[in-house]
Amino acid sequence: MKSYHQDIVISNQDDIREYFKNHIDQIQSGETEIIEFSKDSKEAEWIIENILPDVEKYSGKKHELHRAIVFGQGPNSYPKEHVDGFWPPKPNAIIWSLNIPIKNCEQGEMLWYEGDLELRTIADAPDYDGGFHPNTRTNVRKLNSLEIHWKEDKRLKDSVVVDKPTIVQVNIPHQVINHKNDTRAILAVRFTPDIF
Ligand SMILES: [Fe+2]
Repeated sequence: MKSYHQDIVISNQDDIREYFKNHIDQIQSGETEIIEFSKDSKEAEWIIENILPDVEKYSGKKHELHRAIVFGQGPNSYPKEHVDGFWPPKPNAIIWSLNIPIKNCEQGEMLWYEGDLELRTIADAPDYDGGFHPNTRTNVRKLNSLEIHWKEDKRLKDSVVVDKPTIVQVNIPHQVINHKNDTRAILAVRFTPDIF
């Protein structure tokens, strides 16, 4: 089976958890909210200083921060599967995300599917290529994301509990479930060039 996720050693996980733990508090069940950090934010600077070196050690490449987001997911949330990005896909789209647990990630499961499908743009998602957005909490639908319409029964390809730093593939159908009865938070960081 092709693997859609790779473990990565991030040396200062405790510091990362500590730094980001208050960015997201309580979220309603079924809801996902995000905070995206602008490239000139203190959080972006912190990520470059504290996370980027481990990523470069892992990949053997030099990277720049592409985008950094804290995802908060309400307790017992089972959102629909989706594909990140645009349709049609942009050339050089970033397809790997480094996801680092912040809190309540013990039962946060990412699942990947395949099957005959059609992708549709979510109409109200703005084109974020122009740059980063304010450091305020907002709805996940403000991210570029494609809705899936299955033409047959979807088939589960792979799944993983993201309870440690994990590089995950986001350009194929995936779903993130929070089975835990608490608000879950992860930090998701993407880089240019891509990690793989
Ligand atoms: Fe996604």
